[in-house]
Amino acid sequence: MEIILAPNAGFCFGVKRAIKLAEQAGNENLPYYTLGPIIHNPQVVNRLEKNGIKAVTSLEEITTGGVIIRSHGVSPEVLEEAKSRKLRVVDATCPFVRRAQELAGELTDRGYQVVVVGDRSHPEVIGIVGWTGSRAIVVENAREAEKLGYYPQIGVIAQTTQSEQNFRQVVEVLKKKSKNLVVHNTICHATRQRQQAAAELARKVDLMIVVGGKESANTRKLARICSETGTPTYHIERADELCASWLQNKERVGVTAGASTPDWIIEEVVTRMTEIKQEEQKNAEEIQPVAENAEENAVPAAETGDM
Ligand code: F3S
Repeated sequence: MEIILAPNAGFCFGVKRAIKLAEQAGNENLPYYTLGPIIHNPQVVNRLEKNGIKAVTSLEEITTGGVIIRSHGVSPEVLEEAKSRKLRVVDATCPFVRRAQELAGELTDRGYQVVVVGDRSHPEVIGIVGWTGSRAIVVENAREAEKLGYYPQIGVIAQTTQSEQNFRQVVEVLKKKSKNLVVHNTICHATRQRQQAAAELARKVDLMIVVGGKESANTRKLARICSETGTPTYHIERADELCASWLQNKERVGVTAGASTPDWIIEEVVTRMTEIKQEEQKNAEEIQPVAENAEENAVPAAETGDM
């Protein structure tokens, strides 16, 4: 069995940057907190916790020290509140998310109805909407876009981890909803490359394994893109979730991973897959002599006289 790792699998630039900034903050003599887990990966979160950086769900839980804003970004209100609480702010908002926030704010200021294509419950989308003074409308897909009314001016922004296909479908619908449509495809470069590479690989293999947090939106999207190619796809978080039966009779297996999946987890998955195949081969070899003996002992039909 050949295991092929997709190019661009794993940590993206924005996530690497956020973790680095958090680690640097951990070296300061100040208690630091992240608003929500820095990434959807318990191992990374635990490691930061050992360095004194705890994840909290709201600023109210922080009485002193500093707050690290994740790569997803936050609304201007959250930044203001952190400042008013006299907290030190380490803003690790990914520059690609920052761009989407700024574009959304600018379009709103120019009188456009901003439509954000994304997952309305995702922190990045909640943050972007905050930059429009909560005036943006979020649509998750073309079906939802169809339900929108007519607006003289619409500006479209994408959640950075959206799939190109979904974004394009929504834009097609919005063309009917306004005479003046401005489209900003803010899907980030890293996401685009990762999704394209995963889809290309999925078309060439018998099975795809997508590694990443079950809560990770970009990993879930990656798994959907792979599965839409028609290739059986499994989304796992850890190597111990792999089932030997998935790999049976598979000649080529592709592996990709979401933007918040550390390299060591990808390595563990690939190692476990190799072990499963080795175990399978060993078992087959142990059974082999019996089969050979059985053949040797078989009596050809001609010798039995049963013609
Ligand atoms: Fe940034 Fe794209 Fe990663 S927006 S956080 S580089 S997935």
